[in-house]
Amino acid sequence: MGRRKVAVLGATGTVGQRMIQALDGHPWFELAELAASERSAGRRYADAVEGRWKLEGGIPDYVRDMPVLPCSPDIESSLVFSALDSGVAGPIEDEFADAGHYVCSNAKNHRMEDDVPLVIPEVNPGHLEALEAQKSNRGRQGFVVTNPNCSTIGLVVALKPLDDAYGARRAHVVTSQAISGAGYPGVASLDIHDNLVPYISGEEEKMEAESRKLLGSWENGFRYASMGISAQCSRVPVIDGHMEFVFLGVDDPADVDDAMRVMEAYRGKPQELGLPTAPEQPVIVFRDDDRPQPRLDRYMGSGRAAGMAVSVGRLREDTCDDGLFDYKFVVLSHNTVRGAAGAAVLNAELLEAEGYLR
Ligand SMILES: NC(=O)c1ccc[n+]([C@@H]2O[C@H](COP(=O)([O-])OP(=O)(O)OC[C@H]3O[C@@H](n4cnc5c(N)ncnc54)[C@H](OP(=O)(O)O)[C@@H]3O)[C@@H](O)[C@H]2O)c1
Repeated sequence: MGRRKVAVLGATGTVGQRMIQALDGHPWFELAELAASERSAGRRYADAVEGRWKLEGGIPDYVRDMPVLPCSPDIESSLVFSALDSGVAGPIEDEFADAGHYVCSNAKNHRMEDDVPLVIPEVNPGHLEALEAQKSNRGRQGFVVTNPNCSTIGLVVALKPLDDAYGARRAHVVTSQAISGAGYPGVASLDIHDNLVPYISGEEEKMEAESRKLLGSWENGFRYASMGISAQCSRVPVIDGHMEFVFLGVDDPADVDDAMRVMEAYRGKPQELGLPTAPEQPVIVFRDDDRPQPRLDRYMGSGRAAGMAVSVGRLREDTCDDGLFDYKFVVLSHNTVRGAAGAAVLNAELLEAEGYLR
């Protein structure tokens, strides 16, 4: 069987560029079409991104001369990745799904809808069952599957093993998020150099709601996890890699060594199925006091999965004795790889492996 032809919508942006990287040499998917706004459509890809390709390694040679298409559903590829600006993603993704395309989206627009799966393959692969409801509710042959916001993914991959083992009850999280999370050109340099911005519009609400959908279940409707989650989000002068400082209360705590072992031993469906972009070990636990750090540790995972493993460090008992929290720890994840492009590609691999793309 040949590789499935795929398209990237929003191919010129920060996440779109990471998509192109993630699909380069992919064993199952062949990048066949690129699309973006009217500003880029009709141009050679290399010309459309001149001065704004920001990734190490440069544009893959075979992509440089590809034409940028408008985001119109007459694109031929059955599988479509969306890295579109959220100002336009909602209706464009619907048009593609209505025309029969399978859309794996990074955008926020459809994530919380009642028949749209919001998926991290290690966490809630069973939510893909909602696709039948989506197709029948909306009378479409195609569908939209979404991945969470970049800060939610790191948090939930780290919480999942502890939730399974001990029952997560309450999490408080404070984030230090990288600048690339705001796209390009993103935050003005005068606002972020020598500085920290203690507000990212909509981010806290997304983390709180998406985490509960992800840790919940699908039973002919989404049942949200009952755990309480409270987030405070900030932007810091780091290029890639979101750090998150977590306080967690559980129903049935064990000692810290046990919690570390639970996290390290965790494996999900992607590991069971051997998906090409799956990290061998989804959660890496550091014992050093000063790790993980964004510059040193954001590319955890190897080969195609570089940047797909989530790092946890400083896992220790909480020091208050009021019973609210049991553990505190830090989480690091690469926001445009595990938190965006790699997340969508892993979702597509799961869809392919589970037979949803027929
Ligand atoms: N950056 C992250 O870490 C991250 C993480 C998770 C999720 N996300 C989400 O992923 C999406 C992309 O984010 P980004 O950071 O890559 O943004 P970005 O750098 O601003 O790129 C936006 C892309 O959308 C295209 N676009 C804008 N208006 C359009 C229109 N009217 N019609 C068609 N295409 C249009 C742009 O094309 P032109 O170049 O032609 O204007 C560009 O390709 C957003 O929804 C974002 O919220 C981002």
